[in-house]
Amino acid sequence: MDIERIDVEREIGKVGKHICEHDKKKGLLIPILHRIQEDYGYLPGEALERLSKKLGLPLAEIYSVASFYHQFHFSPRGKKIVRVCMGTACHVRGASKVLDALKEHFKIEVGETTEDLTLTLETVGCVGCCGLAPVATVNEDVVGEIGKKKLPELISSIEQEEEAEVD
Ligand code: FES
Repeated sequence: MDIERIDVEREIGKVGKHICEHDKKKGLLIPILHRIQEDYGYLPGEALERLSKKLGLPLAEIYSVASFYHQFHFSPRGKKIVRVCMGTACHVRGASKVLDALKEHFKIEVGETTEDLTLTLETVGCVGCCGLAPVATVNEDVVGEIGKKKLPELISSIEQEEEAEVD
């Protein structure tokens, strides 16, 4: 190849255009991933494959972007997302016992979802209600002072189809 005949400006222009288009597509990725997760509750593999073809982005790149953000999930989630606070105040006031009781009752580990999709069990750092320790959140609701009496109420509220309040 005659190096003198290469139009460097043109080549840079081509690469620049490619980078721009690639960036544009990557910019679209996050909002689209949010929409998919809103529709399905998680990011199904088939949906990501279709997205990869539509945007012309490698599937590995889509997974890499999605897995960077903790709010994206790659498997179905429970109707109730229960997060037991493991912050210091909750830890001191028995959060581990609450967590163990939920794990034992629903037969799942932290990060898992029951087969019937009733519950996904997670832990969380301080949720800002230390005065009510030990605390758990059930979807958007905060349940505090989970002692021996309240634990069965919490479990039965999780098992109910509709949202139920635990006093
Ligand atoms: S440590 Fe649990 S709410 Fe603050």
